[in-house]
Amino acid sequence: MELREAIEKRFSCRRFADKPVEEEKIQEIIRLATYAPNGKNTQKWHFTIVESEEGKEKLRQAAGDPPEDFGKEMKDVPGYGKVKLKWPFQGDFCGAPIVIMISGDPNVPWPDIGPRLAAENLMLAATDLGLATLWSTLFTKDLFRDEKTLKLKEYFLPEGYELYATLFVGYPEKQPAKRPERKGDIISWR
Ligand SMILES: Cc1cc2nc3c(=O)[nH]c(=O)nc-3n(C[C@H](O)[C@H](O)[C@H](O)COP(=O)(O)O)c2cc1C
Repeated sequence: MELREAIEKRFSCRRFADKPVEEEKIQEIIRLATYAPNGKNTQKWHFTIVESEEGKEKLRQAAGDPPEDFGKEMKDVPGYGKVKLKWPFQGDFCGAPIVIMISGDPNVPWPDIGPRLAAENLMLAATDLGLATLWSTLFTKDLFRDEKTLKLKEYFLPEGYELYATLFVGYPEKQPAKRPERKGDIISWR
C-alpha cells in the first residue's frame, strides 16, 4: 500500500474481528512507530501490549465508576449514532484482541508529543498490514489518578512514565461503508 493510501484508509474501528494479531505484525507496527519524530531524539517511549484477560480487566478497573451524568440521556457518538452509553464505554475494547498503551518519560522535552506521533505511525503501519485501530480516550486520559489506580499504573507502565495514548488494535470486522467527511476551508495563505 502506498503511504498516501494508508493515510486515507486508516479509520477508527469500533468493531474488531474475533481473530488474533500475529506477533510479527505487532513487532513491525511498533518498530515503525519508533521512527516518529520526538523531542531531542530521547526516544523515551514505551509500548505495553495488553492481551491477557487479566490486563484487560485491570484496565476496566482503572476506568472506575461512571461520571455522575453518564448514561442518563442518549448521546451522539461518532461511529455509533445516538446511543445510551454503557459503562465502561467501549469496555470490551470493541472486541480488539490487543490494546497498546504508549507511555513516555514526563521529564524529557515535549514528553507527550513523541509518543503521540508514534501512535499515529503505529496506526498507519497497522492499516498498511490490514489491521485497524481505535484511539481510546477513556483508557488514556486520567486513567491513573488516585491511590487505587496508581497501583494499577505500576502494573502497566515503567516506573515514572506517563500514559499518552491507548490504542485498540486488531483485524476490523468490516471496512467502514463511509468515512467521516473531511472538512474544507482549513487553509490560509499569507
Ligand atoms: C485524542 C483522540 C481521542 C479519541 N477518543 C475516542 C474514543 O474514546 N472512542 C472512540 O470511539 N473514538 C475516539 N477517537 C476517534 C475519533 O472519534 C475519530 O478519529 C474521528 O471521529 C474521525 O474518524 P476517523 O478516525 O475514522 O477518521 C479519538 C481520536 C483521538 C485523536
